[in-house]
Amino acid sequence: MKKLLTLLLAMLLLAGCAGNNPGTFEAGKNTFLLNGKPFIVKAAEVHYPRIPREYWEHRIEMCKALGMNTLCLYVFWNLHEETPGNYDFTGNKDIAAFCKLAQKHGMYVIVRPGPYVCAEWEMGGLPWWLLKNDSVELRTLDPYYMERVGMFMHEVGKQLEDLQITRGGNIIMVQVENEYGSYATDKPYVSAIRDTVRAAGFTEVPLFQCDWSSNFLNNGLDDLIWTVNFGTGADIDKQFAKLREVRPETPLMCSEFWSGWFDHWGRKHETRPGEVMVEGLKEMLDKGISFSLYMTHGGTTFGWWGGANNPAYSAMCSSYDYDAPISEAGWTTDKYFALRDMLKNYLQEGEKLPDVPQALPVMEVPAIKFTQIAPLINNLPTPKQTEDIKPMEKFDQGWGTILYRTSLPEEVKAGTILRITEQHDWTQVFADGKLLARLDRRAGEQEVVLPALKAGTQLDLLVEAMGRVNFDKSIHDRKGITEKVELVNGKDIEALKNWAVYNFPVNYDFVADKNYQDMNSSAFCGIEKNDESVPAYYRATFTLDKVADTFFNMESWGKGMVWVNGHAMGRFWEIGPQQTLYMPGCWLKKGVNEIIVLDLKGPREATVTGLDKPILDMLRVTVPETHRKEGQNLKLTNETPVASGSFNQGNGWQEVKIPAAQGRYFCLEGLSSFDGTNVAAVAEFDVLDEKGQKIPRENWKIVYADSEETRSGNRTADKIYDLQESTFWQTVDNVAYPHQVVIDLGKEYKVTGFRILPRAEQGAPGMIKDYKVYVKTGNFSY
Ligand code: GLA
Ligand code: CA
Repeated sequence: MKKLLTLLLAMLLLAGCAGNNPGTFEAGKNTFLLNGKPFIVKAAEVHYPRIPREYWEHRIEMCKALGMNTLCLYVFWNLHEETPGNYDFTGNKDIAAFCKLAQKHGMYVIVRPGPYVCAEWEMGGLPWWLLKNDSVELRTLDPYYMERVGMFMHEVGKQLEDLQITRGGNIIMVQVENEYGSYATDKPYVSAIRDTVRAAGFTEVPLFQCDWSSNFLNNGLDDLIWTVNFGTGADIDKQFAKLREVRPETPLMCSEFWSGWFDHWGRKHETRPGEVMVEGLKEMLDKGISFSLYMTHGGTTFGWWGGANNPAYSAMCSSYDYDAPISEAGWTTDKYFALRDMLKNYLQEGEKLPDVPQALPVMEVPAIKFTQIAPLINNLPTPKQTEDIKPMEKFDQGWGTILYRTSLPEEVKAGTILRITEQHDWTQVFADGKLLARLDRRAGEQEVVLPALKAGTQLDLLVEAMGRVNFDKSIHDRKGITEKVELVNGKDIEALKNWAVYNFPVNYDFVADKNYQDMNSSAFCGIEKNDESVPAYYRATFTLDKVADTFFNMESWGKGMVWVNGHAMGRFWEIGPQQTLYMPGCWLKKGVNEIIVLDLKGPREATVTGLDKPILDMLRVTVPETHRKEGQNLKLTNETPVASGSFNQGNGWQEVKIPAAQGRYFCLEGLSSFDGTNVAAVAEFDVLDEKGQKIPRENWKIVYADSEETRSGNRTADKIYDLQESTFWQTVDNVAYPHQVVIDLGKEYKVTGFRILPRAEQGAPGMIKDYKVYVKTGNFSY
């Protein structure tokens, strides 16, 4: 009797703690089952550190009012364990509080605890300090790595295991690793991560793996659910074809349906058509397919948390607006309403569509003029000495800027090359304080041609680390100078040694504690107008009589980072496309506020103004022109192909005869690739006339290409007729097949065939397998 009472009490307590009745979630036959009943997951991906905690509830309500029933979130390891063993799950990092808020609004939660998450987040969520270990092999069974993963996952379990639905919480699924198929094939590793997730306590809800349709089998574990990731515009049946074949009764889920895309510094602002997003989601709902919309609200990558892609190295902007239905500042958009209009027709039993919550107030802030400056050079921290140059991690610095200083042992002749292997990521080279060069890793710049320099000249290499790479093997992205610095004079190579190293980390305490001086004093007068202005911290205070959201305009500044009232707001860079930093009103104060700007290049004018809308699309560098206008999407559903078939695998030209067709517009549509990747690549292309001769290409124009890789090189579609076999059209790796290119032949021809030269390099991705061809006298519709 006593035992029974204790049991009852324990059960009551358990239910009471979680505030809800225990339930179940599982994979049934062709559908998920919530408490035993068929259930379609309509998940909104949002990231708690990309939203101020004060606004979590607003964003959750926005997702709910959009028609979603679940929130999907990553857990960002490096955010919770900034230094080894010091776990932080408080404030903006309180994942359990976030889940509970979701539950308050009747939303379920899918947790994706990594350990690797990608997410355009610094190092894909892995802590930088793992790289202090020279031989660490991330995302493998490396013992050190796995030990740290286990410890972290255990902490995540402590926060969240009691929130599983079986215990009255709202967590319905947990992900194992993240798109591991795009990294390696290593089932033992993925199995070990699965076991770690289970050992952390996630034993009562289904575990799943997410991957691309092209590679999910590589690491697919028999006892896990498999889901597929793909973006708007993808052919949904094709995306699930293989999965349906190997697991005919599994519930289907697109675990990341990409609503838009992220922005890189120096690249065009990304947008994706809303109509296509809504069509895709509707099709999935009609077919009983669950989804998570990545991102439903992207928010902001505050501080130094932005990641990068590689190769070529390309760092992410601070805004993670993502062209998502809910904007960076939590506003509704056309996409939001279009989607809501559709989702309202797909409410399941017990689901309601609440009213759209009010937008948060927004304001302008009059120009804040900076009056105080602290040049880095006048504020050097105590140096560390090292004979050989070493990356930042070796000096126990995770983020920020690092200065390596040495003096030239001998005179240097003009024309000598200073070769850095490698500088990560933006380096200013000074000789006796005079700026010689700025090197940008994005452009592969690792060398400077030196002028004549005397022995004893002080050489300063000031290196700013941008985001650590978050995708592929180059996540082993050490910062500062990673290997060596040499003077190269013909065959003469000499390594520079004996460095004094100065660390400039990013924590507020460090940047606030500087010797700030009046900018108008004689020593600094006009410093910000000088082209070669010094890298410096700038400080100002400003007074507000009300607080609301605003967007700080950094247009007149060079490159660096901003802190407001102790909050690290993010990086800025004049090249754009992002020019404003989102400044949530909840981090401002009535009365006096403080702003600090680190500008490594120097501003044209040291002023910041708060705008009432963001500027995310002002690019101030030239980039290759692409062939798809915003919102354009080729419509082929009502067109009849003149031919279809499969190419032969292998290098070299292939000629294809097609039934004669009169026309001026020629469309090649690739349906699949030989290597199973998303990529299509074509080096050269010819169209044949009625005699089977090549049509002259002088008057050709590319009218449309669905996707073009411009992040790492210029791989636009016009490269298919530039006579160069080494240049090619290549699509972006995250955009799924089908891929189309439309050529305007200049005038009408009787087309009888075509010739194609795939991208030539051995092992290069993108050889198209199945194709269709369309010929029309008038242009296609988009
Ligand atoms: C993949 C990753 C995500 C994110 C998206 C692109 O799907 O799993 O973390 O990086 O790409 O935004
Ligand atoms: Ca070419």
